[in-house]
Amino acid sequence: EGVMGASTKNRGHWSSRLAFILAATGSAVGLGNIWKFPYITGENGGGAFVLVYLVCIAAIGIPIMMAEVMIGRRGEHSPVNSLRQITRLDGLSRAWPIVGAVGVLAAFLILSFYSVIGGWAVSYVGTAATGQLAGKDADAIGAIFSGLVGDPGTLLLWHTVFMALVMVVVARGVSAGLEKAVSILMPALFVLLLVVVGYAMTSGHFSDAVAFLFEPDFSKLTTKGVLIALGHAFFTLSLGMAVMMAYGSYLPKGVSIARTSITVSIIDTVVALLAGLAIFPIVFANGLEPGAGPGLIFQTLPFAFGQMPMGSFFGTLFFILLIFAAWTSGISLLEPLVEWLEEQKGMNRIVSTLGAGIACWALGIASILSLNLWSDIHPLGMFAMFEGKTIFDLLDFLTANILLPLGGLLVAVFTGWFMSRQALENELNLPAAGFNLWYNTIRFLTPVAVAIVFIYNLV
Ligand code: PHE
Ligand code: NA
Repeated sequence: EGVMGASTKNRGHWSSRLAFILAATGSAVGLGNIWKFPYITGENGGGAFVLVYLVCIAAIGIPIMMAEVMIGRRGEHSPVNSLRQITRLDGLSRAWPIVGAVGVLAAFLILSFYSVIGGWAVSYVGTAATGQLAGKDADAIGAIFSGLVGDPGTLLLWHTVFMALVMVVVARGVSAGLEKAVSILMPALFVLLLVVVGYAMTSGHFSDAVAFLFEPDFSKLTTKGVLIALGHAFFTLSLGMAVMMAYGSYLPKGVSIARTSITVSIIDTVVALLAGLAIFPIVFANGLEPGAGPGLIFQTLPFAFGQMPMGSFFGTLFFILLIFAAWTSGISLLEPLVEWLEEQKGMNRIVSTLGAGIACWALGIASILSLNLWSDIHPLGMFAMFEGKTIFDLLDFLTANILLPLGGLLVAVFTGWFMSRQALENELNLPAAGFNLWYNTIRFLTPVAVAIVFIYNLV
């Protein structure tokens, strides 16, 4: 059966630790690394923000990833039912499966706008392939981007294409073919990022970019920035929404949860930092604005491809690989809802994929319009926290900075305070010192840190 196709009757196991790492990395590495990380880093002042983000990955992200994978492996079902299984085994409150339901909702909301950005990548394949980037200056490149986001029809077309790609794979059950493809295309994306970093080194502003990314200036850090860094740690590692739980349910018993979680997190982090090193030298060399927002990579990378030798080729390849990275993440975003509809509502896979996918696609239209015709509509603008936010901004903020950390907080409390310690020790199978480090982190550090960041931002 498909590795991610979660039937409860006939559950396979990952063929190996490597297969799990591939699938989990496929989910983790995506637009979050290459599109979102650079632009939020630019908006939040650089180094200090990056440092907080790295601390969040290490101190909060990795322990929660371990917890999610462990819940999945112990429950051996789809997330909601894994939580049911564990609460029954351990005699806990029947309310816990709600954690899984919050995750399913968050995944649905994220996919609606993720697909719109995935569509931007689809659009740039054509732009690069037809040589439209070659030799253009930064203004001309900027005009191509404004032309795209200002045109709802084109955005809708590419959003539809991206969502269709995701639905086709989910409807058929994820195949071993895709898993193989990931094992070739992800390293290829990595190599191409290195090519762009190589080009960026010749821009004469590489050291400015390194300083921007790695020399913390704490005067530029706001409490909102801390919340965004925390939220992004969840977003980029695909945490707080039961995705890693779903994948963990296929992990064979003997495999080290700690080692695999750390491996996935390191790969994800390296890709994000490489994206930063590729983009910021180009930003500084061309007098662009680091805080340009969601369009940042679409205004810098195309410029680089327009300048470098064989740029149309590299650019085309890059955007194809970016689509692939976004595609594997998109699949993992749609999968939880489809599984839930199958299990809870007894729908078959095709019907549930169509239902979930079309609903998500329709919601995506609101994000598309908020980039142009509705750009002045700020639905929750009366609250200071949401001032100036469009529908697209709101969906992003609500999911990454509220729902995902909330889901993560609940996972931490559930594993740290409610699951039996014996079960945790058995699943993690770590030396005493390692176990205690994780256990204390998930019991105290993680919940307290998430709660403080939340409360600070709410009041
Ligand atoms: N982790 C993905 C990325 O960085 C996005 C994602 C979030 C995927 C949550 C699945 C679940 O692009
Ligand atoms: Na990521």
